[in-house]
Amino acid sequence: MNIKIYRNISQIATLQSAHHKNGKRLNLDDLGLINNASIIFDQEKILWVGQDRNIPTDYLEKDYTEIDLSGKVVLPEIVDSHTHLVFGGDRAHEYSMRLNGATYEEIANSGGGILNTTKGTLALNRAELLKSAKQRVKTIRSYGVGTIEVKSGYGLSFEKEYELSHVIHDLKNVVRPDVQIINTFMAAHAVPNSFSNSYEYMKEVVLPLLDKLGEEKILDCVDIFHEQNYFSHDDVVSLFERAQRWDIKVKIHADEFNDNKGAILAVKHDALSADHLLRTNEDGISALANSNTVATLLPGTGLFLGKAQANARAMLDSGVKVAIASDFNPGSCHCDNIILLASIAAPIYKLNQAELWCAITLNAAHGLGLKDQGAIVAGLKPRFSIFNTDSIDRITYNWGKNLAI
Ligand code: NIG
Ligand code: FE
Repeated sequence: MNIKIYRNISQIATLQSAHHKNGKRLNLDDLGLINNASIIFDQEKILWVGQDRNIPTDYLEKDYTEIDLSGKVVLPEIVDSHTHLVFGGDRAHEYSMRLNGATYEEIANSGGGILNTTKGTLALNRAELLKSAKQRVKTIRSYGVGTIEVKSGYGLSFEKEYELSHVIHDLKNVVRPDVQIINTFMAAHAVPNSFSNSYEYMKEVVLPLLDKLGEEKILDCVDIFHEQNYFSHDDVVSLFERAQRWDIKVKIHADEFNDNKGAILAVKHDALSADHLLRTNEDGISALANSNTVATLLPGTGLFLGKAQANARAMLDSGVKVAIASDFNPGSCHCDNIILLASIAAPIYKLNQAELWCAITLNAAHGLGLKDQGAIVAGLKPRFSIFNTDSIDRITYNWGKNLAI
């Protein structure tokens, strides 16, 4: 057995009770802080965690690999559970247009937005897309993130979306096991101009392609942009029903610009997560609270687009399981640093520290269907993030300073 012992860790946050509470209704104690800690694990799972001075002697008597982590913090692995990192080109000009008064919706309606990035993506071949995606993953990894969800969705044709899902599959294989990639199919991201409506595009492209990729078994999840001028309630239902046929989990971009009752739809279909939720009202919050669907908040998008943020406090107080992700993409949030975004969001959302760390570890993992990670608890997977500082306070305090190892 390949057993390793992390010794003398200055501080760990186990999130043990957060794990037992299923990531809901967290108070400060749920952080599970231990100073001068030790973690013992093999390749598959965590075997023991506690104070270094309490390590069971039989572990110390054997010749296991000991790694001294004094002066370091170890946390459950940081997860970025919502990115669109496979794309070509950029949309810097659209950011400036917004500064000068245009809205995201106006820019999209005049030929910018997702369709603009589709042009940039079509200009790159499979190898070039993989190369740039790998570089983006490397950067995100450098912040201490070990699991990253990656969505397709800038191809918007049968052939290009097929290619993008395979780029993500290739990416998954080249970065594992160090980084775990979740492959999310999001051909239902925008309706290309060659189709007169979303129903036709779903029928001709999205659903047949999902069948093909479902047969190839390379997808982990599906997602859809449920929004006015994008995809309707009926489109969501047809996608979710087809995904179920292939036993693929579902997610939804919900209630971003309008309260379209996307959160309620997500709960009805037992979605892993409903994401954005800037406009979700009480009925959506109460549906989420009575479910296992994770509310994945994307504070960077609200900040980048200059929109009001999601009502995180109401969600948390009602018992919703809340995660935070970056939404890294070329248009609505060109920021790939989830720790920076969560640090900025915490005082806006009024999160306590347990809610904050849980949002980018345990709950983010649950939003991807990963129930065997997210806390430093015996039996769970040994997926950790290590920081070169002696207290977790310093990680969120030092905005934009990368302390990860
Ligand atoms: O999550 N909302 C839909 N998709 C992205 C935006 C993508 C883009 O503007 O390129 C999002 O914000
Ligand atoms: Fe998104």
